[in-house]
Amino acid sequence: MAGRTGEVETDALQTEKRRARIRRSVLVPREGEPEGTIMDFDIADPELSTAGKHRILWAERNMPVLALIRDRFAEERPLAGERIACCLHVTSETANLMRTLQAGGAEVRLCASNPLSTQDDTAASLVVDFGVPVFARHGEDTETTYYEHINAALDLCPTITIDDGADLVSTLHSKRQELIPGLKAGMEETTTGVIRLRAMAADGALRYPMIAVNDAYTKHLFDNYYGTGQSTIDGLLRATNVLLAGRQVVVCGYGNCGRGVAQRARGMGALVIVCEVDPLRALQAAMDGYRVMPLARAAAIGDVFVTVTGDRSVLDAAHFEVMKDGAILANSGHFDVEINLKALQQMAAEVHRTRPAVEEYHLRDGRKLYVLGEGRLVNLAAAEGHPASVMDMSFANQALCSEYVVSHELPLDVTKVPDEIDEQVAALKLQAMGIEIDELTAEQKQYLGSWKMGT
Ligand SMILES: NC(=O)c1ccc[n+]([C@@H]2O[C@H](COP(=O)([O-])OP(=O)(O)OC[C@H]3O[C@@H](n4cnc5c(N)ncnc54)[C@H](O)[C@@H]3O)[C@@H](O)[C@H]2O)c1
Repeated sequence: MAGRTGEVETDALQTEKRRARIRRSVLVPREGEPEGTIMDFDIADPELSTAGKHRILWAERNMPVLALIRDRFAEERPLAGERIACCLHVTSETANLMRTLQAGGAEVRLCASNPLSTQDDTAASLVVDFGVPVFARHGEDTETTYYEHINAALDLCPTITIDDGADLVSTLHSKRQELIPGLKAGMEETTTGVIRLRAMAADGALRYPMIAVNDAYTKHLFDNYYGTGQSTIDGLLRATNVLLAGRQVVVCGYGNCGRGVAQRARGMGALVIVCEVDPLRALQAAMDGYRVMPLARAAAIGDVFVTVTGDRSVLDAAHFEVMKDGAILANSGHFDVEINLKALQQMAAEVHRTRPAVEEYHLRDGRKLYVLGEGRLVNLAAAEGHPASVMDMSFANQALCSEYVVSHELPLDVTKVPDEIDEQVAALKLQAMGIEIDELTAEQKQYLGSWKMGT
């Protein structure tokens, strides 16, 4: 690549320039290095660390499974010698995952998987109190800083990656291919990331093995359903403080996330309409008691719209044309492409912020439409993301998979979380909740394993 002065920029020069842009570094004590070691980081304000520490310890109270794993990791050090680059939402729950990986002996680096989800106080505490190099600032610019931070995390020369949405993996495959031979495996946290990785595998483009943590039962049946369900409504309410009772709420997409959002909205008295493209999911929504119709029709009825599809331009110009004055538009799918904001911008005479996470699009015909959190994940842009209690299970899967990939060779593909890990996470969560369950008797085991016994 040609630099500004016309010289050819080597990879090393580019890396050096990027490092120079990462503004701060600090001397931290490290085991076996009495002089301490220089730690790079780039966060908004280290002074916020006290508030961040309170937040991290508050989340810890609701993450008992991860705490059990952390205690075992501290004794057994199964990740000793591993370097783990993580691209995740920089929240208090993620902070507890970082502590767990560190307790297992890994060197970690963290960057953000979304420019609006970073909690600056959590980032500060991770750096100051826990010695985790973090590269994330709330509201960072998506064109440059976001990717500079991903590259800074990759400068760790990881042996393992943990990603949420596959931006780190995609950067690795396109711009940092020199790191690929050193990688054992990667884990992916969300549906959209898993879809991207499967597309890479199908194209023959995937160059190191992946585990689809999203697809573990103890992840998507809880995190996507209960977590997204509750936190999306939380984001909607914190942003607007509207009363949901009696309002027409249109949920686009009836996957695990959409089902959760629809159920929570109904629980608050909303009249929920579901829009789907998959006949099975649409049928399920109808039998769950929701009105199901095409979005073209629902667009004129809805007071509040929530997209959770993982698809693009779900809410588009034709829908904006017929929406009621005052309609509220939110997205809880992974990327900010579900609401076609470009089309909306073109229809608007003026756009301005009316509340911290609300932008008013004043259309030329006089109507006003309100977009929450710039069309990014509303539960993270306008609230705090999933409650710690569900992230406990998602991140227990991440920690146990990190341990698994150190001692197992995986095929070059996107594979599922081993059943024994899924079952272990469920059993530990039940134990932490003080819930006991029955066990099969010997007679029942035999019956369930045989095909000979009938009527
Ligand atoms: N907000 C969060 O914190 C959070 C948490 C987990 C997952 N996610 C993201 O939410 C999205 C959905 O995840 P999921 O696990 O429910 O996925 P899913 O694949 O189970 O469900 C998505 C549903 O959307 C439907 N759909 C696709 N295009 C559509 C369209 N144009 N109109 C209507 N319906 C359409 C699909 O048929 C499918 O039923 C993904 O992007 C995922 O990464 C967000």
